[in-house]
Amino acid sequence: MSAIDQVQVDVHLGDADLAAALRSDVGNGLLLPQKELPPKWLYDERGSDLFDQITRLEEYYPTEAEREILLRHATTIIERADADTIVELGAGTSDKTRALLDAGRDHGSLRRFVPFDVSEEFLRVTATTFAEKYPGLEVHGVVGDFDRHLGQIPDGGRRMIVLLGGTIGNYPTVARKEFLRQMVAGMIPGDRLLLGTDLVKDPARLVLAYDDPQGVTAAFNKNVLQVINRELGGHFDLDQFDHVATWDPIEEWMDLGLRSRIDQQVSVDDLDLMVDFERGEYLRTEVSAKFRLASLADELASVGLHVEQWMTDSAGDYAVSLSVGR
Ligand code: AVJ
Repeated sequence: MSAIDQVQVDVHLGDADLAAALRSDVGNGLLLPQKELPPKWLYDERGSDLFDQITRLEEYYPTEAEREILLRHATTIIERADADTIVELGAGTSDKTRALLDAGRDHGSLRRFVPFDVSEEFLRVTATTFAEKYPGLEVHGVVGDFDRHLGQIPDGGRRMIVLLGGTIGNYPTVARKEFLRQMVAGMIPGDRLLLGTDLVKDPARLVLAYDDPQGVTAAFNKNVLQVINRELGGHFDLDQFDHVATWDPIEEWMDLGLRSRIDQQVSVDDLDLMVDFERGEYLRTEVSAKFRLASLADELASVGLHVEQWMTDSAGDYAVSLSVGR
């Protein structure tokens, strides 16, 4: 089997769908009394590159913590899940997934890898790279939005669904439960969920992780305005906004956004929109929830998932859980 024969990519989300979703998200979000934009628009080419730089910052510990966990526990995860299919949601470049695929290859059960991502471009690169690296592994990519296309994940065999990086923290509490419920609805007995979650810790460390002194996170956050300028004819002046990262002790999430430095009016031509910002007004761009093991276990149990294995890094900053439906 050549690398090309191993690869299949299903596209459920085309450029036109993405453009329509951006229009409606921006149009709706900027007109809310508390302005907000969904974090998925942070990741255009430049945004993805900036995020990659974030993962290499000293202050941003989650990436290395998760890598440590996966390298240490990949074999036991694979043995326990005994999966023939690994589905990775929000695959990006699937860097840390290699540890799991290596272990799967050695274990002998793994036949198929299903990377799932909104970006067709990233996905095709990932799919071919992995097909070449793992001869005989079937790579079945799915281009979709995991709020809408979870039902398109190919079935058959025993699957382990992998959601890493702390991405689940981007969902506010109610939406998170709905997302988990949808995912469980598509699982059959024996399917597993491998979930990466950042943990509650000293707020000073959290703030530093999301407001690094080099300003990489600030540039990443402000880039969403550039996306609106380019894609929708927006006229945002990035210098008139400040990056803000605050710990919300009630919600237990990092609240990330942009604060207007002045009273200003910004037009977005393609939406026929004029948006007023008061000086000091906040535009939320992301929440990043932090978890506690006990309440996360309860939350998973409430959708029918039972945690079989908890894994944390040596510093206790981050957790990966392996759950099974019951
Ligand atoms: C990719 C959503 C997990 O919340 O830590 C990093 C994104 N934002 N720095 C996170 C992010 C600012 C990241 N996630």
